[in-house]
Amino acid sequence: MHIVFAASECVPFAKTGGLADVVGALPPELVKLGHEVTVYLPLYAGVRRQIKGELKHAVRSITIPFAYYNRFAGVVNGGKRAGVQYYFIDCPELFDREGLYGTAEGDYPNNWERFGLFCRAVLEAAKLLGVPDVFHVHDWQAALIPVYLRTTYNSDPLLKQSGTVLTLHNAAYQGAFPPSTTERLLLPWEIFTMDKLEQFDSFNFLKGGLVYSDILTTVSRKYAEEIQTPEFGNQLDSVLRGRAEELRGILNGVDYTQWNPATDPNLAAHYTPENLAGKRECRADLLRAFGLEQVGDSTPVIGIVSRFAMQKGFDLVEQIAGRLSELDVAVVALGSGEPVYEKFFRDWAFWNKANVAVRIGYDDALSHKIEAGADIFLMPSLYEPCGLNQIYSLKYGTVPVVRATGGLDDTIEEWDPKQGTGTGFKFRGMRSEGLRDAIDRALAAFEDKEGWKRLMLNGMARNYSWEQPAREYAVVYEEAAKKRE
Ligand code: ADP
Ligand code: GLC
Repeated sequence: MHIVFAASECVPFAKTGGLADVVGALPPELVKLGHEVTVYLPLYAGVRRQIKGELKHAVRSITIPFAYYNRFAGVVNGGKRAGVQYYFIDCPELFDREGLYGTAEGDYPNNWERFGLFCRAVLEAAKLLGVPDVFHVHDWQAALIPVYLRTTYNSDPLLKQSGTVLTLHNAAYQGAFPPSTTERLLLPWEIFTMDKLEQFDSFNFLKGGLVYSDILTTVSRKYAEEIQTPEFGNQLDSVLRGRAEELRGILNGVDYTQWNPATDPNLAAHYTPENLAGKRECRADLLRAFGLEQVGDSTPVIGIVSRFAMQKGFDLVEQIAGRLSELDVAVVALGSGEPVYEKFFRDWAFWNKANVAVRIGYDDALSHKIEAGADIFLMPSLYEPCGLNQIYSLKYGTVPVVRATGGLDDTIEEWDPKQGTGTGFKFRGMRSEGLRDAIDRALAAFEDKEGWKRLMLNGMARNYSWEQPAREYAVVYEEAAKKRE
């Protein structure tokens, strides 16, 4: 089958979070299964820098009409990597910017136009460069593809046969804009109703995708259940319940060519389950990188790598921060995002220089060093569609402490010291006491060196490669294509 991926992020070209890891890793795995895969991305400033030499245009100019004006987009041929064909939608006035979605001041006000154009340009490009059996679109930024396909492109003889799959990576980001967006994007007003794109007087990109795609998937089984409830559905739960028959939960894999302590080029030393010695060196290297050389050999190191967003549960950490920094632990955190959380981490580190250190920013190499050098990985997310860092942690022998939600619940099993089973520590509920108790259980387990080694090895033995999920997606593509026969 030929699958077209359309997304706003993809490793190694553009990344703000896990979406990029998924869109980077799943296509090569599908190629291994014998499928043809083409990935479309916007040509952001950062992508332009990565393309050495002159841009090679596969298509010089596509006309994208808006109400009262046209825009023109080229399609740049990004070549093939691991059998996957990459194309970039080139519209400098919309995409040639540093931020993918906005600046420190907030989102770009014309994101409706940026991603509206992206969706339409992908359809037009596919007509010229190869119509797929299935469009696999990701999150709100690509969610208008199925909408255009079934409305204004409905009678296009070339596109008629293509099925659509939408993967929902995070129900909280929906792309909501004023009602007038409908006509600015030249969509018919008939679709601006509550059973289609309208969401409480907004034009909602994601809702459109949820209504018009043949099959819906999300990134863990647990999250597929959760988003059908008012608590997690971000007011789209009733739409999702209405489409429960077509909604699948497929747990993300991780790319072990990038995330493996035996080969990771970012580490001071390598290690394997058979020989863990290198992890000590990684720990020392990590503490050096954070200026915490004085931390004693037997002190457990807690690591955090995250977008600093409300989703990630740092309000709970703040509530127990005072107590935590008085214990015999070291904390190293890397992240950036909402100013309140950046301030919390900066202040926490400022008042606890001996054992708490933070780096505000985005740093891929340092994120690998934390996965390897820490003993415990902390991820108390309020909700987590899948979560990748806890899965990386398992591979690196770094024991996750997580809230039992979404993919965190699906991937982490509570440690049972009597049986020697389990891979981490989980808590339920929204109260900081739950987090505190889970950390206490982890710290108590850390005292028992033999038990802790078992716990590390249990996690390291888990396999979350893309092989299995790629097969599950292939089945979903078959289903979507069948609906168009
Ligand atoms: P989300 O997509 O919600 O941010 P995930 O756990 O799925 O959460 O994925 C986050 C990805 O982004 C991981 O690959 C993680 O290592 C990376 N990441 C997040 N914040 C940073 C940061 N400050 N520096 C480097 N990598 C980061
Ligand atoms: C989203 C989610 C995260 C998930 C990632 C990749 O950003 O917040 O939980 O792992 O997408 O699917």
